[in-house]
Amino acid sequence: MSKTRPTTAEKSKACPADVPRAVLFDAYGTLFDVYSVGLLAEQLFPGHGQALGLLWRDKQIDYTRLVTTSNHGAHYQPFWALTRAALVYALKRIVAPALAPGDDTDFETQIERLMNQYRHLSAFPEIKTVLAALKAQGIPTGILSNGDAAMLNLAVKSAGLDGLLDHVISVDPIRKYKTHPDAYALGEQATGLAAKQILFVSSNAWDALAATWYGYQTLWVNRYQLPFEELGTQATRSGENLRDVLAFFPFPSVSKITTP
Ligand code: LAC
Repeated sequence: MSKTRPTTAEKSKACPADVPRAVLFDAYGTLFDVYSVGLLAEQLFPGHGQALGLLWRDKQIDYTRLVTTSNHGAHYQPFWALTRAALVYALKRIVAPALAPGDDTDFETQIERLMNQYRHLSAFPEIKTVLAALKAQGIPTGILSNGDAAMLNLAVKSAGLDGLLDHVISVDPIRKYKTHPDAYALGEQATGLAAKQILFVSSNAWDALAATWYGYQTLWVNRYQLPFEELGTQATRSGENLRDVLAFFPFPSVSKITTP
């Protein structure tokens, strides 16, 4: 139940060896705000938006685990395809049963609209200031995501983060999704640093947990006051938004940073 944010005194005592030398962010829900997708889902399917959004997300992650752990990866599909498949499943489960008898709507138009919205998400507003502060201190930054390169590059562009990140790392080339250790290893390979020298930031508790197990320093960004995973390990710290990344660093400028 406790937040693990250190006091200012604890921070100033931080050994320089503990200060991260790079910061990697999860993408969906962490950098990119998926809220607009839920709004559109509610507009398209009044009364079902929330349930649809939740099942869509859960099924999407479920599918990443299914294809990573089954039959030595033989059934791998890129994240875009799994995201679409998860949406179709969620529609069949939540919306189709509520249709009038004989209505055989295939939802193609709504699927395309929702997927298009997913393609063009906005970033959480504080991220630009956080990335600028890290850049000013020479700390490399990047994304480490299940997303495939095409969707990540488009999301980065749509959110106006072009040129602000040093690495956009997709698990797609290795065809294994987080939480497979090979997926987290990509962050070390891209930065040339050991996991313990890297801060990994995620809003997904399972992702923050698995990255902690892998050896990263981690920040769980808990925007919605959710419980963390109950598996005996905590993220290195938890915070409320992406500004909490800066508390890992003893920059003189941090206290002066104001963000939207
Ligand atoms: C990602 C998902 C898990 O970006 O949010 O990897």
